[in-house]
Amino acid sequence: MNIDMPIGFMDSGLGGISVLREALKLMPREDYIYYGDSLNAPYGVRPTEEIRALTVAVVEKLLGHGIKGLVVACNTATSAAVRYLRENYSGLPIVGIEPAVKPAVEMSHGGRILVMATPMTIAQEKYKRLLKRYAVGREIVSVPCAGLMEFVESGDFEGKDLNGYFEEHLAPYLTDDTETIVLGCTHYPFIRPQLKAYLDNDGISIIDGSAGTAREIKRRLMVEGLLQSDRKENGTVTIFNSLNNNEIIERSEALLKMNLVY
Ligand code: DGL
Repeated sequence: MNIDMPIGFMDSGLGGISVLREALKLMPREDYIYYGDSLNAPYGVRPTEEIRALTVAVVEKLLGHGIKGLVVACNTATSAAVRYLRENYSGLPIVGIEPAVKPAVEMSHGGRILVMATPMTIAQEKYKRLLKRYAVGREIVSVPCAGLMEFVESGDFEGKDLNGYFEEHLAPYLTDDTETIVLGCTHYPFIRPQLKAYLDNDGISIIDGSAGTAREIKRRLMVEGLLQSDRKENGTVTIFNSLNNNEIIERSEALLKMNLVY
């Protein structure tokens, strides 16, 4: 591994671009290579073994391009495979993402915390341990959101359909004391404006783990002496997708540039 290699990012599809965006803000001089596995998406409704095998296959592709660090920019893939990856690729700095439960608890005033995530993220032991650790004395409620990532994958940001989704899948969990919503899937930050409009309540904070994950890969690369230091110009972003067509690459690039008002 050397300093001039790109940082690898993977996701089941386009969601991990929300994490890549944060990394670009923090480390603009780095090169990035992003691999979205949209052909096999969604991961979040598949059995653990299958998610692990798909994740490893993507990681192998990224390694084939030569990467100096890996961000598993998918909560589902992290919960199913990050331990395996750490055991089997021990020389590689690897950072995963998990639902931002800890920051939600730290900023909370005792109200209800909702965690929106894929059914598989919620079912994993890793997530249960996370809740056990931080949920003491808090009301943290998991909201399984099968079918929500598809809106982002297909570029369907039409408020009407999304509102229908929120009405059916989120509304039953919303209470007067709901204080924070954690976006526990990397696709969801792209529909945050629609969610905010749907909630129409400034008293509810919407948070996600993308900035924290970007900070963590920066820290890891710094510790390893693998961060660009003397480069003057901005780095490059190369996007691959298992669907292997122009449309999905263009949609990925659009998400990378999308202006998200928080
Ligand atoms: N982006 C993925 C995550 O963060 C999930 C989407 C999927 O179900 O594949 O969990």
